[in-house]
Amino acid sequence: MEKGVLITFEGPEGSGKSTQVALLAQELEKRNFKVLCTREPGGTALGEEVRKILLNKVEKMEPLSELFLYAAARFQHTVERIKPALEKGQVIICDRYLDSSIAYQAYGRGLDLQTVEMVNNLATDLIKPDITILLDLDPEEGLGRFKGRELDRMEKENLLFHRRVRQGYLELGNREERFLVFEADLDERELHSLILSKVLYYLVERGG
Ligand code: TMP
Repeated sequence: MEKGVLITFEGPEGSGKSTQVALLAQELEKRNFKVLCTREPGGTALGEEVRKILLNKVEKMEPLSELFLYAAARFQHTVERIKPALEKGQVIICDRYLDSSIAYQAYGRGLDLQTVEMVNNLATDLIKPDITILLDLDPEEGLGRFKGRELDRMEKENLLFHRRVRQGYLELGNREERFLVFEADLDERELHSLILSKVLYYLVERGG
């Protein structure tokens, strides 16, 4: 494989992305693909610290400050992890990437879409995912999955916020060809098989 592949997972809270990321990585590794599994915000020392600030450390945050913090984590991640892995021909599976800023900061918080896209362009150095897997789920159901554990700063937002986020994702899914949309309330294994077959088809088609 000459150049790597960037596969991103997106979805509202509780959509089961992390489980599906791990299952996909396992299957691709079994088939001898070199896989990098990573996440945003995170994936680097800086990104993991920024993640703590964004999710658990402070309550008061302006929407634009929030956008910049996610973008700071993203730029570091792009330079330290994503670009080198692409150059080595690896398959990167990333739990959230630039579309999260569109869904959460533009649709959710109400920031101007062009501003968010401009910041994303800087933070990603214009690297777009090859495939984006959207796990769609009613936010009420997703948040219901968190019963019994403390919510983070984003999860604590009201239902209207989370509905706007979902709407944002669905609009992106309609607009962008790289999106594959799945219903997240399917059985975990069944969903995994559907995702795996689409991803393998893509990798084989491109001659991986
Ligand atoms: P998660 O990856 O564990 O789902 O948590 C990350 C949280 O951060 C989630 O609520 C979505 C949010 N987020 C944004 O609002 N904008 C972003 O750009 C990213 C990457 C995540």
